[in-house]
Parts: sequence; structure tokens; C-alpha cells
Amino acid sequence: MINSSTYNYFNSQETPFYYYDMELLENSLISIKKEAAQYNYHVHYAIKANANPRILSLIQSYGFGADCVSGNEIKRSIENGFSTDKIVYAGVGKSDREIELALDSDIFCFNCESIPEIEVIEEIAKSKNKVANIALRINPNVNANTHHYITTGIAENKFGINPWEFEEILSILRKSKNLNLIGLHFHIGSQIVDLSVFKSLCIRINEIQDWFLDHQIIVDHINVGGGFGINYHQPDEEPIPDFKNYFALFKEFLNLKANQEVHFELGRSIVGQCGSLISRVLYVKKGINTKFAILDAGMTDLLRPALYQAFHKIENLSSNESPENYDVVGPICESSDCFGKAVSLPETKRNDLIAIRSAGAYGEVMASEYNLRKVATSFFSNDIK
Ligand SMILES: Cc1ncc(COP(=O)(O)O)c(C=O)c1O
Repeated sequence: MINSSTYNYFNSQETPFYYYDMELLENSLISIKKEAAQYNYHVHYAIKANANPRILSLIQSYGFGADCVSGNEIKRSIENGFSTDKIVYAGVGKSDREIELALDSDIFCFNCESIPEIEVIEEIAKSKNKVANIALRINPNVNANTHHYITTGIAENKFGINPWEFEEILSILRKSKNLNLIGLHFHIGSQIVDLSVFKSLCIRINEIQDWFLDHQIIVDHINVGGGFGINYHQPDEEPIPDFKNYFALFKEFLNLKANQEVHFELGRSIVGQCGSLISRVLYVKKGINTKFAILDAGMTDLLRPALYQAFHKIENLSSNESPENYDVVGPICESSDCFGKAVSLPETKRNDLIAIRSAGAYGEVMASEYNLRKVATSFFSNDIK
């Protein structure tokens, strides 16, 4: 994963910290841009995956839009160069202040998640004498076959609008002068590695489009969300997800009407593999049946394993000794502060450097100060000589 000068650089820094391989990020962006351009697809980067300004400014330099879920994400994306007319804004709980900010910023589109939200956007847009572009975030009832905490598109879910609410929404829209329905939006979950799930999504979108067509409505934009997964088990074998087949699948299975444009909101697949959390072993402690490698990084730096039992590949960068099994844990006063159980690592000792791989998405951005810990800093490959 790293050469000796990078290792020496790591060794000279205070741990833990995030390390970003900017060449890998750039190569991922090149691949996405090339594959999406074949079909004129629009890509909005899901800011929630990683909002580090250096990461954002590189991503926006490729011309992608931003997918935001809060007012502060809208602000951060604008500050880092994303064009406001490429910002989409989702979220089940948009506050009045956030809606005002989005309207004042003239974002491209609100992805609306409920009838009460649509009514509030209408009211605020009216008070500002503006017209809000909206898309309906529809709950397609497609199971993403991923962890239940990151499944968002099944019927009993807080996200999105269910089909039995369509009639009521159309009647609100018919009366409104301040709402402009421009799209249908879908997002069924995250870390989806089985492409057939996206095929099911396309089939469902086609059915939903037929319903709208029967009601004389053809929207200009179909937003299929994000969710494309990465290879957490073998990051070096698949550093860049297979964007070619991913985009081709939508081309094959999504039935578009004339002049409809397709949008994607990719997060994890763009930034997941470029980041690693680098930490140091504080202690190796003998348990009853196991050995614990206790790191100076914990769930406050990378929450995913504690939050949804996520797997991350763990590597010892300092040792070439024969392998042994360790429970790799952090220093936080919670039993869930564990990065992996029975992890095979070369014999590990105090001060060894440990890399927790594939941590570029939903890593740094979820950091907290719980236990009053300092938030980890970040370093970038293109700054290391
Ligand atoms: C509405 C929406 N779009 C896009 C994404 C990005 O998903 P991913 O990082 O899996 O591509 C999310 C993630 O939760 C989301 O909620």
C-alpha cells in the first residue's frame, strides 16, 4: 500500500490520522467521468461521505455536482467550488432555515421526502416570491440486501414518499405556483455490491414512470441515488469500483422518456478506497482466549464498525513476523469500540503502525469528541515528498 518514504512520514507524525491517496481519488474521478460521459449522465458527489475541503475541491474540479443533506453541507459545497445549479438537497428533516438557505442559494433541486415537507417548501418559496424545483424522493420498496442500518428504500422506512401518496401530491402541485416538479428521485441504500439490486431498482422506476405517464406527467430528471459499494475485504484488488458496468446497467434497464436526464449521487464508491486511518499500537494485552491489540484510534475516529458492524481490512505496517490473531480495539470506554475480532496480523507490538483501510467514506466525517478526544487530523499523499 505504501512506500518507505510514506512509512517514514507516517512514523514521524502524531497518530491517529487519516491518510488520503489523492492519486487514487483522481483516478477514480477520471474513471467515473469517462464512463458517465458515454451516456451524458450527471454525477453529484454525496458530500456526507467525506466533506474534507481538500477532497471536495478535487472532486468539484471534475465538474461533478453535490448531493447534500443539510444546510451546512450546502454551504460547505459552495465554499469548495461546487456550482449551485448542480446541488441537490435531500433529507427527511429539512428545517425552515435550511430550506431558506437552499432557496437563497438557487440550488438545482430539493429531493422531497414527505407531504408536510412539500407544503413547507411551498410556503417558504411563496414568501420569497420564488419557485422551488422539486423532485419526489420515492420509496420504491426495493430491498438493497445490505446492512439494515443502511437500507433506505423499503416501505417501512423513514425515507421517501410511498406510492399511495402520489395522488395527494399531484393535487397539491396542481394548485401551487411556487413548486416546479422536475424529477423523481430514488436511493435504496448503501454498500450495494450486487448489481442485480440496481436492475430491480430500474424495473421499479420504469413502473413508477408508467404511473406518472398515465397521469400525463413526464419529468425531465430521473435521479437514481447512490449506493454503489466497494471491496472492503480486498481494497488493493479493486481500488476503483467497476463504474463501467455500473453505468451500463442503468443504460440497459432504465426506460427513459424523450429528453430525460439521469442523475447519480455517488459517495462511498468515489472516496471509500482512497482513505486509511493510521494509528499506533499502544499495548498488546493478553486476554483469556485472545490477545488484544489496543490502538490509539477508536470509534471516535472511525465509527462504522461500532455503528453497523462494518468490516475494514486491518494491516500492520511495521511488522513482517509470523501471523497471530488479535482482537483489534480502541481506547474508548465502550465494548463496541472494536475494529475487528480474531484479525490475523503479523506479530504485533507496542508502537507498530496500523492501517485501517477503505476508511475514506463515512470515516473522518463521523468523528466525534466523545471521551473528550482530539479529532484526528488528515494528511494527503500529494503533500508527502
Ligand atoms: C439520498 C442519498 N443519496 C446518496 C447517498 C450516497 O450513498 P453512497 O455513499 O452509498 O453512494 C446517500 C447515503 O446515505 C443518500 O442518503
